[in-house]
Amino acid sequence: MAKDVIIACDFAGRKETLDFLDAFRGEAAPFVKIGMELFYAEGPEMVRELKRRGHRVFLDLKLHDIPNTVKKAMRVLSALEVDIVNVHAAGTVEMMRAALEGLSREDGTRPLLIAVTQLTSTSEERMQRELLIGAGINETIVRYAQNAREAGLDGVVCSPLEAALVKKACGADFLTVTPGIRFADAAADDQVRITTPARAREIGSDYIVVGRPVTAAPDPVAAYRRCLTDFLQA
Ligand code: C5P
Repeated sequence: MAKDVIIACDFAGRKETLDFLDAFRGEAAPFVKIGMELFYAEGPEMVRELKRRGHRVFLDLKLHDIPNTVKKAMRVLSALEVDIVNVHAAGTVEMMRAALEGLSREDGTRPLLIAVTQLTSTSEERMQRELLIGAGINETIVRYAQNAREAGLDGVVCSPLEAALVKKACGADFLTVTPGIRFADAAADDQVRITTPARAREIGSDYIVVGRPVTAAPDPVAAYRRCLTDFLQA
């Protein structure tokens, strides 16, 4: 699977999203990520519209429920022809296997399925005190990634700084999809553990997810091209 830059389209509605993407017309349609806010506001038609416009779509809904419910929900998402979907690894290996089953189409194809290990908003201190998980956070991330691999998933979402750990534990072919990307000369916003596109490439990220450095740039197309060049150059 080729490496790529995924633009996080964190917009509230269809109009803002399509107005933003109109600037990319004439270019190869970028890979986009849409999340809960946009999907819940606009529904499956938003995904169909992006697919009709030639975008590949990472639908970031982070499913976490009993295996049978996740399997049936994944069957619906698979029919939308999304390219990547995700689940919480905390749902267990059994749930992740059920998710894969739901995604598999009759012709043998399916979207890529990746797992969220620990959200980057979860601190080690809270994980231990509130969730009673005694291990260290990196140990948890590696174990959840190994569980995802055991269930047959394609990879995980993780911070670029965790990508090397995950690759070491799960193999070079296990995908790492990494948000938290900033240009060296830019503000971090609310992201804490950040890295540049070039550094993400060196660490071994397969896909970088970039939101505000592109969506809030004065020239989003130029910022996107800069990400592509920095991330993909040999
Ligand atoms: O604007 P920014 O580049 O920070 O956007 C990053 C995107 O990646 C957002 O859609 C955010 O929700 C998502 N994300 C993240 N950290 C994670 C998982 C997802 O920033 N651990």
